Amino acid sequence: MNFRAIGISGSLRAASSNTGLLRIAQRVAPAELTIEVDEPQHAIQQLPFYNEDLEDDPPASVQHWRELVSGADALIIGMPEHNFSPAAVAKNAIDWLTRPPGQHTLQGKVIAMMTSGGMGGGSRVQPPLALILGYLGNTIVEEPAVNVKLGGTRITVDGTADDEIVDLVREKIANVVAALHARPAS
Ligand SMILES: Cc1cc2nc3c(=O)[nH]c(=O)nc-3n(C[C@H](O)[C@H](O)[C@H](O)COP(=O)(O)O)c2cc1C
Repeated sequence: MNFRAIGISGSLRAASSNTGLLRIAQRVAPAELTIEVDEPQHAIQQLPFYNEDLEDDPPASVQHWRELVSGADALIIGMPEHNFSPAAVAKNAIDWLTRPPGQHTLQGKVIAMMTSGGMGGGSRVQPPLALILGYLGNTIVEEPAVNVKLGGTRITVDGTADDEIVDLVREKIANVVAALHARPAS
């Protein structure tokens, strides 16, 4: 079976280590899982801040983003921690996916979150997202936790990192694939 995942990096920084985590995921993913990073990242950058007034006639950038995600089986998120919270860039992209009520584009996805953080390692950003994304009917892949302390100094944007980090990401992606196989047929 072939599966398709959308990578979401919550950092716009050119040398982002969270984008680097997605690049590692791309590299270690088995052939049956394709992880897209470039197009989703471009799409996220085109999104306006969430505004319910735009829902009657959503801009092309929002429609494109929703279509990109609705056709995917999984989301792999590289989520920076900003002031103990999910980074606004990725949170905004996710908020667009959760609306309109009853027609959101997230149902049934397998979702894995990883964080390259600062001194704190970023472990606080994932629980609130897991809560809302799980509530919307998704399978959250919790294990193993990928929370890299001072990740900006350990992971390059093209996904070069030490073996400990690469092995953790590999295990995470293997669990994503297992969860995709375990999904009930729709
Ligand atoms: C506004 C701001 C707030 C931050 N708050 C936290 C924090 O609460 N916890 C933490 O571990 N790192 C924090 N950091 C550090 C970021 O997590 C770190 O810069 C980020 O992991 C870099 O990601 P990137 O390499 O993908 O750009 C903060 C950084 C910024 C810019």
